[in-house]
Amino acid sequence: MQNLLVTGGAGFIGSNFVHYVLENTDDHVTVLDKLTYAGNLESLRGLPEKRFTFVQGDIVDAGLVEGLVAQADVVVHYAAESHNDNSLHDPRPFLDTNIIGTYTLIEAARKHNKRFHHISTDEVYGDLELDDPERFTEQTPYNPSSPYSSTKAGSDLLVRAWVRSFGLQATISNCSNNYGPYQHVEKFIPRQITNVIDGIRPKLYGKGENVRDWIHANDHSSAVLAIIAKGKIGETYLIGADGEKNNKDVVELILKHMGQAPDAYDHVVDRPGHDLRYAIDSTKLRDELGWEPKFSNFDAGIEDTIAWYRENENWWRPQKAQTEAKYKEQGQ
Ligand code: NAD
Ligand code: DAU
Repeated sequence: MQNLLVTGGAGFIGSNFVHYVLENTDDHVTVLDKLTYAGNLESLRGLPEKRFTFVQGDIVDAGLVEGLVAQADVVVHYAAESHNDNSLHDPRPFLDTNIIGTYTLIEAARKHNKRFHHISTDEVYGDLELDDPERFTEQTPYNPSSPYSSTKAGSDLLVRAWVRSFGLQATISNCSNNYGPYQHVEKFIPRQITNVIDGIRPKLYGKGENVRDWIHANDHSSAVLAIIAKGKIGETYLIGADGEKNNKDVVELILKHMGQAPDAYDHVVDRPGHDLRYAIDSTKLRDELGWEPKFSNFDAGIEDTIAWYRENENWWRPQKAQTEAKYKEQGQ
């Protein structure tokens, strides 16, 4: 039994991880989350009280962070400002949380000599051409495009420097695009599903040719647990499940499963600097740690995700109108 401190555990991937840990291990979980617009306590409802504690607070609060890190065996750091579109309109919170917040956590982990796992993204590597035969590997040079991805790249480099300079007991993972329950309606897949439920046509940025490498949030969680258990200190592991799809195909799949015509969507103004394609080669994680994804059927995963949003309207409804109003202002 270990005590895990999970930052950002009220967000999309963090909350999926907390559910996964409580269902698949004996570990105790403490979540530290600021409850920004992206955090939702409803995502953590009904968890066993003896094995779960929630603390509302900011990861830049050094006093609070130090006390919690001191009590933990392992820190799993998910908290971030995570949405590219937001980072293009107001980058400052991305610097505060992703850079200063990560710095605050690794300083505490260093002081108390705690095992630290840093959650990051494939976006730190920039993007690939559609026909590039190569995919991202742990050796790909960093080349981030957006304020979001550049702050995530910065946070990864801080962790690497703390490992080398101070002997921090850390690992890093860079994962591709996640889908599944509890994802905020600002993100691509939930936005389109909830748009169709509301009778709004899905919105595709630009031509819809951009490719993302989709992985179910539970497969991300199992990979993170494998890295915490068996990963080598100081190493980076790429997490991906061979799920490349272009955005147009994803919208058409959602429309098909929701009983709509395949062309019942609108093209809207493109994202500035929009990364064209992400693709992960996860050979190292599979070969060295024996990890395999379980959710290999994207079609079935999307059907389940649509069902979850249909059944959990109370969870997403409070954010929907405000999110769409913001997109409308931006012509998206
Ligand atoms: P999210 O936006 O859904 O959740 C972020 C959570 O962090 C929220 O609960 C929010 O309240 C909390 N938070 C934000 N600022 C905080 C602060 N200063 N102090 C404490 N808590 C704070 O994000 P997500 O999509 O679940 O992403 C989680 C992590 O995974 C991020 O680090 C992100 O970079 C990474 N990641 C995401 C994806 C993806 O597809 N969404 C893929 C790879 C990696
Ligand atoms: O690759 C991992 C990253 O995936 C994470 O690091 C980020 O935190 C996460 O938000 C996600 O970033 P993306 O920018 O790829 O995700 P988003 O859901 O915003 O968009 C996915 C794709 O869909 C992207 O090509 C933009 C496009 N899009 C998005 C929205 C919201 C649309 O075409 N229409 C939309 O309405």
